[in-house]
Amino acid sequence: MAGLSVNVDHVATLREAREISYPDPVAAALLAELAGADGIVVHLRKDRRHIQDRDVRILRKVVQTKLILEMAPTSEMVGIALDIKPDLVTLVPEKREELTTEGGLDLFVHKNSVAETVGSLQDNGIPVSIFIDSEPEQIKLAHKINASTVEIHTGTFCDATTPQKRNQTFDKIVDAVKLAYKLKLKINAGHGICYNTIKAFNGLHEIDEFSIGHSIVSRAVLVGMEKAVKEMSVLIKEL
Ligand code: PXP
Repeated sequence: MAGLSVNVDHVATLREAREISYPDPVAAALLAELAGADGIVVHLRKDRRHIQDRDVRILRKVVQTKLILEMAPTSEMVGIALDIKPDLVTLVPEKREELTTEGGLDLFVHKNSVAETVGSLQDNGIPVSIFIDSEPEQIKLAHKINASTVEIHTGTFCDATTPQKRNQTFDKIVDAVKLAYKLKLKINAGHGICYNTIKAFNGLHEIDEFSIGHSIVSRAVLVGMEKAVKEMSVLIKEL
């Protein structure tokens, strides 16, 4: 059965909108854990637009399940990860002008630098996942550079506006998951998944964990964090 890692970045987005101390993503993370989350995810961006260094440091001390640090493969972030020692690092591409992560890391372009980052982290006992598009060649490269896990980018499927595009993008996800499974990679999936799109993953049991943020935090604003997490956990258990 797949797990659920809850991304609390957007609790910090709300806090940073006023540059004050609440709502605290640390409090949201603890509530998510109480509601049954299997992990907490935060993306520490270079521009610190939502999650701050202080959040990651406190989360490391208080998270009881596992802490997953999303980050760009830069020397600054590697230094922070080596210091904080999250349970998993997910490497993502990062552009300052983007609203959110726009696609997977392109390993054709960044293979050598990403391989170096994977090496420095994994040699220090921090497993690394690479966020990639559902392209067979990208998955083979992630395997080649020794990443323990891949996170399949589900955003193109979740954002698809026609049935044809939805089917096409989902077929690619299925092929990518099957290939990664054959290569014995651990498989996570995430980006853009909501209470509807999660249902499409029914039967795709090779996926170890879903990483979900925006839809859960959005629902939490209306119904509370624990209810929002529980509702998503139930949907994942039914897959
Ligand atoms: N996985 C990765 C690699 C991401 O960058 C994000 C967004 O921070 C997510 C999952 C979660 O996406 P969403 O907030 O759309 O659920």
